[in-house]
Amino acid sequence: MASKQCLLLALLAAVAVACLIPAASAATSVEYCKKGKNYPVNVSGVEIVPDPVAPGQPATFKVNASTDKPIKEGKLVIDVKYWVIFPIPVHSETHDICQETTCPATGDFVIAHSQTLPSYTPPGSYTITMTMKGDKDEELSCISFGFSIGFVASS
Ligand SMILES: *[C@@H]1O[C@H](CO)[C@@H](O)[C@H](O)[C@H]1NC(C)=O
Ligand SMILES: *[C@@H]1O[C@H](CO)[C@@H](O)[C@H](O)[C@H]1NC(C)=O
Repeated sequence: MASKQCLLLALLAAVAVACLIPAASAATSVEYCKKGKNYPVNVSGVEIVPDPVAPGQPATFKVNASTDKPIKEGKLVIDVKYWVIFPIPVHSETHDICQETTCPATGDFVIAHSQTLPSYTPPGSYTITMTMKGDKDEELSCISFGFSIGFVASS
């Protein structure tokens, strides 16, 4: 019984320490869902602010992308997976792509997706898959990248 309370206190202390670390941002390594596939939209980088993401506080995922075909309408599908030995799907949502970037998007553009994860989101390693779809539901690009929540230091 006492050890459970100690564990809880240790967890709370770790969360408190994590909250004192100033919000940082860094480029994250990003991969295409299908390597070698020639997607109409290229992604050159992703930035997560803050990194690590704090539960209950807004996080922004900025994606640097480029295309030679202007995007006038479409969707951004976001799938979040939580890693415990293998990935567990925890969250999925679809947005109007023009709410996440300025349409028509052409040349170099940035998709900025802001999201507040619930305060009970457990700390750990997560993977986001972002799929961009055009007006005919065709796949424009698909990327995935990892992020961490809570007191786990980002590498
Ligand atoms: C995204 O593009 C901006 C402006 O071109 C640049 O400053 C930034 O470093 C890029 N970020 C990533 C993660 O590639
Ligand atoms: C995307 O990247 C590929 C391979 O690097 C390149 O051939 C293509 O021109 C790029 N497309 C755009 C729209 O930047």
